[in-house]
Amino acid sequence: MTGTNDPTNDEMLVETDVSDGLSAAESSVTDDAETVIESKDINVWYGDDHALTDISMEIPENSVTAMIGPSGCGKSTFLRCINRMNDLIDVARVEGDLTLRGKNVYDDDVDPVALRRRVGMVFQKPNPFPKSIYDNVVYGLKIQGIDGDYDQIVEDSLKRAALWDEVKDRLHESGLDLSGGQQQRLCIARAIATDPEVLLMDEPASALDPVATSQIEDLVEELAEDYTVVIVTHNMQQAARISDKTAVFLTGGELVEFDDTQKIFENPESQRVEDYITGKFG
Ligand SMILES: Nc1ncnc2c1ncn2[C@@H]1O[C@H](COP(=O)(O)OP(=O)(O)O)[C@@H](O)[C@H]1O
Ligand SMILES: [Mg+2]
Repeated sequence: MTGTNDPTNDEMLVETDVSDGLSAAESSVTDDAETVIESKDINVWYGDDHALTDISMEIPENSVTAMIGPSGCGKSTFLRCINRMNDLIDVARVEGDLTLRGKNVYDDDVDPVALRRRVGMVFQKPNPFPKSIYDNVVYGLKIQGIDGDYDQIVEDSLKRAALWDEVKDRLHESGLDLSGGQQQRLCIARAIATDPEVLLMDEPASALDPVATSQIEDLVEELAEDYTVVIVTHNMQQAARISDKTAVFLTGGELVEFDDTQKIFENPESQRVEDYITGKFG
């Protein structure tokens, strides 16, 4: 992502639009109510480069699923398959099935913008908009024309993002004046203000100091009580600490193992995963 506080176009697009909801998906019934996201043989190419090969996994509701693996193995690419952010990359091509509560998000009748309202995203670099704290939180609601008691939504969202106590007396100051960790929690408040079902987080703490990182980790675990959280991290200890399930991607865009986090870290099936986890390569 960019090195400034200006949101990129892609990031703005996540928040922007007023199109109809995913009515087909909302009314569909899944076979397994516990699975929120199911990936079946997802392949992604950037031009001729095959970035992800046959990725299949089921992500359970109200849990934290971590994606780990060395740089360039396709973790961010996979995350972007879930809310169709790869649509915004001209050379990217996605094949396979990715379902959200049983509805394929790549079906023709799915509006990607409506999808992104159900699947919020938080990026590595905190990217508050150059607006007040209050206006950052209500941004998505305003843009999408969602009515409501904005004062209450701001308070609730900031409380859920564990930021309320620190900012309640300065809601009309700029979001850019907050510390890095506070900015990231503001971005989380902004992502949850529109009431998504899934929160995607791409290395949300990797630009933060240890104290801010630990606050984000605590918050992620709390958020999983209400949301399905999918988090990319290059920090294995972080994955071990906060996730219920772990997906290990290795070089070549392969999902080598996906299982309960404890199993992955204590007794993985794959020698390659064991070597990666124990630091023999990476
Ligand atoms: N926008 C893009 N255009 C072309 N290739 C890309 C793009 N984004 C990622 N890639 C390539 O896809 C592979 C996986 O990248 P990425 O998903 O960012 O990995 P990770 O998040 O695990 O570091 C890498 O080889 C990367 O160079
Ligand atoms: Mg990445």
